[in-house]
Amino acid sequence: MPHLHLESFHPIALPAIEGDVAFDFIATSRGEGKESLIATRFRDREFFVLHKKSGEKDLLKSDKITRPSPNYLIKQALLAYAKHSGIAILDSNVDTAGENVHLKTHDALKSVDFFADNFPTDREVRVEVGFGSARHLLHQALLNPDVLFIGLEIHKPSIEQALKQITIQNLTNIMVLDYDARLFLELIPSNTLSRIYVHFPVPWDKKPHRRVIGDVFVEEALRTLAPQGRLELRTDSENYYRFALETYSHPAYARFEVRKNQEIAIVSKYEDRWKRMEKNIYDVTLINDFESPKKVLEGQFIFNETPINDAILPKLERQTFRREWGFLNTEASFDIREGGWMLRLAMGSFDRPEHLYLIVENGKARYFPTQPVRSSANLKAHILLNELLHG
Ligand SMILES: C[S@@+](CC[C@H](N)C(=O)[O-])C[C@H]1O[C@@H](n2cnc3c(N)ncnc32)[C@H](O)[C@@H]1O
Repeated sequence: MPHLHLESFHPIALPAIEGDVAFDFIATSRGEGKESLIATRFRDREFFVLHKKSGEKDLLKSDKITRPSPNYLIKQALLAYAKHSGIAILDSNVDTAGENVHLKTHDALKSVDFFADNFPTDREVRVEVGFGSARHLLHQALLNPDVLFIGLEIHKPSIEQALKQITIQNLTNIMVLDYDARLFLELIPSNTLSRIYVHFPVPWDKKPHRRVIGDVFVEEALRTLAPQGRLELRTDSENYYRFALETYSHPAYARFEVRKNQEIAIVSKYEDRWKRMEKNIYDVTLINDFESPKKVLEGQFIFNETPINDAILPKLERQTFRREWGFLNTEASFDIREGGWMLRLAMGSFDRPEHLYLIVENGKARYFPTQPVRSSANLKAHILLNELLHG
């Protein structure tokens, strides 16, 4: 991850602009383990640059939750902050190379709002979850020019690599999204997808709740798949294979097919490795047979107009509110030097929590960097938060 070690750190006067990068405010954590978050805008993205002490050194890097893609945005923001503050850089892993032309001109990289506002339904749509090296995604897109492929990945270097290849191969039928697949399915209208590929997902043997495939994911996959649509799992993990069989065997679920050591036209890096180790490869395909009802979610992420009293903050700090639909956790709290305060939140369903910030300025609240995904658990968590903020 790009970072700079600075000779010292001092917050600059804000708001400030350095080149194309704007810095709006600085929020410093309350209580132990001081860290500062500098609200940054670059192009159409908002994110935090994080300052904290690392031993004797002052470290400047991107905040994990709001980290934008591509990395170029972070690099520019870090360098812009150092330049504006006039602080010497002791060492860094930030190269000063220009922007990768493939990424700069790319419109295949979409934000989650793009899909939330207007999910594409004008042609056949297939989704690949965790495309990694993107070999399979690119291969399928080349083979099926009339199909739209949405590639989901949470590993930024893989996203950058895929975007580069999309440009080189001049593909116009791929959209790439840096987002957790388990949350993304909730945004898709019912009966829309023809396929969902999940190839070689991380097995998470010690933390099975972190697996992509689980009861809720399968429910959402069946809802979003059109009749005869397929959820295709390919794995080398015996544990994952058995877990999928168990999950798919739930009586309410549809048909599934199992194949062992089936050759496919394109072999991913992972598959190459497992084949060299002579591991078995399993395909477990779930087929949807039903038309699902339209998904209707009531509610908006809007806060009450009544001003929020700052005295509420100590009552909200570092609390977990558990409910039967999920939870709301106020993980950390911050004072905003320019006025107001902020909470780092985890919210929504237990197995697919959303991580983001809540900013309260002049008695008004807003989410940062974007609103939560419109899932039923997130909407319920929002209602709870709204009530708590207003005492
Ligand atoms: C073991 S790799 C397999 C990559 C590729 N499918 C292949 O066959 O080579 C798993 C990939 O899934 C991604 N991933 C893990 N959890 C994810 C999630 N919840 N949403 C989207 N991608 C995820 C990881 O970043 C990683 O690149």
